[in-house]
Amino acid sequence: MPEAKVQVAASILSADFGHLADEAKRIEDAGADAIHIDVMDGHFVPNFSLGARAVEAIHRSCNLFLDVHLMIYNPFDYVESFIAAGADQITFHFEATENVEDALKFIRKCGKKAGLAFNPETSSSFISSFFHRCDLILFLTVHPGFGGQRFLKDVAKKIQTTRELLERMQGRKEHAMDIQVDGGINPETARIAVRAGANYLVSGHYLFSQPNMKAAIEQLKGCAS
Ligand code: DX5
Ligand code: ZN
Repeated sequence: MPEAKVQVAASILSADFGHLADEAKRIEDAGADAIHIDVMDGHFVPNFSLGARAVEAIHRSCNLFLDVHLMIYNPFDYVESFIAAGADQITFHFEATENVEDALKFIRKCGKKAGLAFNPETSSSFISSFFHRCDLILFLTVHPGFGGQRFLKDVAKKIQTTRELLERMQGRKEHAMDIQVDGGINPETARIAVRAGANYLVSGHYLFSQPNMKAAIEQLKGCAS
């Protein structure tokens, strides 16, 4: 399994929305590698969350890498506004558009990292055909739309298959691609995900419910050992 260092993004969905700037600073001070910002449209998922103006406010309040996760239909139509707001990486769902290739190409053309997300029940048998266009594959380990749900262990098989495919391409550019997991991540589930081959953990409920976010991030980063 991978030797790569584990990165942790804190999902701001579990933060206090009345104090987003302070919460962004808190995540930065706690040593997270990125702030994960969930964008929901009430259609692709049955909930609403933050939009480009909130991304812009978070961008102004800290220097962290902004990892934007679009859970919306027609993501291509909104990519530019999130980039203008300060997104460093944009991940959208395979299930949300017929223009997967075009959207990935466009994000990269804008100089940003491009990610492709898969819901827990979506097959990943064709996944390698997108490797050359992606900087990141995101596996949802909950049904998207809400924080604080239970980790779906079965997704670990897809993570493992994807990591094995990447390993086979060792030496090629695609090998540098990140495998991110999002949903129900805590020290116990982080270990399952990292053992399966993930190197990038998103955590919301767990990190925000701990008395010491810095220690909690360090614990997640150390879950491989
Ligand atoms: C779920 C979101 C996640 C969520 C993860 O739709 O994509 O980013 O915030 O949060 P936890 O760690 O609470 O499951
Ligand atoms: Zn997310």
